[in-house]
Amino acid sequence: MRYVVVGVLLLISLVVLELSNAMAPSVSYEWVVSYSERSILGANKQVILINDMFPGPILKATAGDVVNVNIVNHLTEPFLMTWNGLQMRKNSWQDGVRGTNCPILPGTNWTYRFQIKDQIGSYFYFPTLLFQKAAGGYGSIRVYSPELVPVPFPRPDGEFDILIGDWFYTDYRGMRASLDNGLSLATPDGILFNGHGPEEAFFAFQPGKTYRLRISNVGLKTSLNFRIQDHDMLLVETEGSYVQKRTLSNLDIHVGQSYSVLVTAKTDPIGSHRSYYIFASTRFSNSYMTGLALIRYPNSPVDPVGPVPAAPESWDYASSVRQTLSIREDLAVGAARPNPQGSYHYGRVNVSRTIILQNDVMSSSNRLRYTVNGVSFVFPETPLKLADHFQLKNTIVPNMFPTYPSNKTPRFGTSVVDIRYRDFVHIVFENPLDESQSWHIDGYNFWVVGMGFGGWSESKRAGYNLVDAVSRSTIQVFPYSWVAILIAMDNQGMWNVRSQKAEQWYLGEELYFRVKGDGQEDPRNIPTRDESPIPENFLRCGRVL
Ligand SMILES: *[C@@H]1O[C@H](CO)[C@@H](O)[C@H](O)[C@H]1NC(C)=O
Ligand SMILES: *[C@@H]1O[C@H](CO)[C@@H](O)[C@H](O)[C@H]1NC(C)=O
Repeated sequence: MRYVVVGVLLLISLVVLELSNAMAPSVSYEWVVSYSERSILGANKQVILINDMFPGPILKATAGDVVNVNIVNHLTEPFLMTWNGLQMRKNSWQDGVRGTNCPILPGTNWTYRFQIKDQIGSYFYFPTLLFQKAAGGYGSIRVYSPELVPVPFPRPDGEFDILIGDWFYTDYRGMRASLDNGLSLATPDGILFNGHGPEEAFFAFQPGKTYRLRISNVGLKTSLNFRIQDHDMLLVETEGSYVQKRTLSNLDIHVGQSYSVLVTAKTDPIGSHRSYYIFASTRFSNSYMTGLALIRYPNSPVDPVGPVPAAPESWDYASSVRQTLSIREDLAVGAARPNPQGSYHYGRVNVSRTIILQNDVMSSSNRLRYTVNGVSFVFPETPLKLADHFQLKNTIVPNMFPTYPSNKTPRFGTSVVDIRYRDFVHIVFENPLDESQSWHIDGYNFWVVGMGFGGWSESKRAGYNLVDAVSRSTIQVFPYSWVAILIAMDNQGMWNVRSQKAEQWYLGEELYFRVKGDGQEDPRNIPTRDESPIPENFLRCGRVL
């Protein structure tokens, strides 16, 4: 009976979603991006603000909404914003990365306009050009579920958005210059909570209430372990997927990842009159550092008392792998997508191709550079999406990029992988280095079906989770390890595939997926070209004048 009710609800909700697409409710934001001097961790630094805020305002929308964000650039440099984890259905024109868009020049403004379709959850936005993320410019994104789409947990009494990340005293232009000069990023100077140093950010709890904490790691390089003194967390969401609920005492969050946990406030007379620490401490790092925020109950003294939860052993990868693999999709719920979680059996779809992406350091270069399959990414003068649209010659060289690790001499190149629309692709990320990686694909979520130490081989397929792997958009790859994902290429466009680690990304660890119909008649009656037209207000640059 319950299943029938859920089924009917799902049907209703899908109908409602269709209607809402037609009526397209919208939300609009006007964001001024500017510099300001701020004292953070006791040192002055020029940070990037949005509407005078660091972090920027929370972007709130409901699945189905059309979102308009008018960005007014008051910096002295070009600017672009990306929407980390939002799928920008068929609209890579609106994904503010250098390969798809011309930059918004200083003193000018440009309006992003996109519809959020079939996805709900927690994400964040950040600036993508010129290492600006090291100065801020980021903020949280909440996508709510439409009224009638069931959410698999009771409505929380409140929500908090928590952005954690490493912070560096150095001006972002200085950091950029040292990367340009071949130096690696230094050790961070601290860990921030919503732009604040230790014990400056606090979250007010009322006894007995349940809160949803939407947490993202917005830092440049550091994996963080998140935990709360004397409070357990119920993990419910990973980058837009509802997961099998699990109680955790701590959670590893790698650069670029987002999670939601539910935390229930204490009711006992002593416990509900205290303050508690929230920790975000470095993992897999030589120098231990921790960010500290506070939970405060009504009339509680500011300073927490009592024992604090121990940090996991910093270099204990095995426990982190176990935790990652234990995060599973909740197949019993329908999310706001045409194929409710669970009704789409990704494990039964035939794989159309395998791509192996191996990151490395470019040893032949006299400056520090990073490669994928031996190619270190360099930008053409015209964004790839525009070059493709206007069919400019000599920008995208088909098949230049090897889709398997290559033992050719490392080189520079503009890596674009052509992928046929609706192909079902198996991708293996191989990390032969002693530092963990974090991979992200714009425009998509993918199923994380396998993860292991050592090299990948065909025999690993036998161990894949083909039933309830989590679907997400950013996955860490541990040192000397591999990760396998499956991805349904149902979103046409030019999509950035990148290291979420700022240094690796800035120095060449990225590529683009060009997902297109092949123009052949499709027997399933699926349009072969199915993409938003070029926006009327598109910016010109490079060879498009
Ligand atoms: C720039 O901002 C103005 C004022 O809000 C707006 O009317 C205009 O459409 C914006 N321009 C672009 C290209 O988005
Ligand atoms: C997958 O491939 C097998 C073998 O080629 C074929 O028999 C089967 O019908 C395919 N399944 C689907 C769902 O296309």
